[in-house]
Amino acid sequence: MSESVRNEGASKPAASRRAKAAAAEKLAKRAEKLRRDGDFDKSAELLVEAQALDPDNADAAWWLGDHAHSAGDIRTALKQFRRYLRLQPGDPEALHMISALGGRRKPKRASDGYVRDHFDAFAEHFDESLVGDLKYQAPRLLYDSVRKVRGGRKPRMDMLDLGCGTGLVGQRFQPMIRKLWGVDLSTEMAKRARKRGIYETVAVSEVTKYLKQTRRSFDLVTAADVLIYIGDLAPLFRGVRRVLNPGGLLAVSTEIRKGGDFKLTASGRYAHSLKYLKRTGRESGLVLVSDTTARLRYELGEAVPGTIAVFVRPA
Ligand SMILES: C[S@@+](CC[C@H](N)C(=O)[O-])C[C@H]1O[C@@H](n2cnc3c(N)ncnc32)[C@H](O)[C@@H]1O
Repeated sequence: MSESVRNEGASKPAASRRAKAAAAEKLAKRAEKLRRDGDFDKSAELLVEAQALDPDNADAAWWLGDHAHSAGDIRTALKQFRRYLRLQPGDPEALHMISALGGRRKPKRASDGYVRDHFDAFAEHFDESLVGDLKYQAPRLLYDSVRKVRGGRKPRMDMLDLGCGTGLVGQRFQPMIRKLWGVDLSTEMAKRARKRGIYETVAVSEVTKYLKQTRRSFDLVTAADVLIYIGDLAPLFRGVRRVLNPGGLLAVSTEIRKGGDFKLTASGRYAHSLKYLKRTGRESGLVLVSDTTARLRYELGEAVPGTIAVFVRPA
């Protein structure tokens, strides 16, 4: 057989694979649009077609995993996230979700890579999605709890907002504070917080690392919807104790776990028991002075209950 005939024969399957991959890519793009418009069933149908055409289409694997996860089909979600990880080795979001679904060891906190990737991608729609669609309440709940703990009129405080995100908490606490600093791992979230013009600085850093390094001290430290990405709270609480002025307050929100200490749940977020919060606070030199149960936000139409806890560093 001549060289040219042999090459022509060999390139046919390759050309057909390329055509299928291109068709799958198109379907995945259409699925993305449908997903954005809220038509999840139709979107999933197109992704199934895309994956049949090209089993190596990474988008199809990720979003089929995501659809299955939302529908509570853990087995399929795990299978798709594993497939995605084979196509995108080391991807932090896939690793995190596989852990959350019980497919690998659960870490003591979400990796920096996961938090960064997740929130950099989410930043643009964060406010409209959380406040608008999910009826996010944590900033107001934290504010109300801190106000109750302080009682009466008090001097304004210097505040550090851990995992400040786009700055919703800083915004809410304006009537109570003198100066405000923020810290967040996600560059995109931090950028939006800075745009509000209410933070002295917004550092891009992991919170526990920041608490170890900063030379400032504060009257109030907040962490709204941040401990859901951190399981083991001891290093964070010790860091907060270090930067709080005597008599200073720490206000946090957590998702509720009934027994045990903390757990990375199938949602991909951590939940903590009140007993654990109290004990870890005490062991770190912080006394729990207030805890309330409240609805933090909605998820897939269901209310997500949480604890709003306020600790004091004794004077
Ligand atoms: C759900 S958002 C909440 C944002 C803000 N606190 C609010 O209530 O609107 C969680 C934020 O915490 C940040 N975050 C999570 N874990 C972190 C960590 N270990 N270090 C720094 N930032 C973290 C994320 O980047 C994200 O901006």
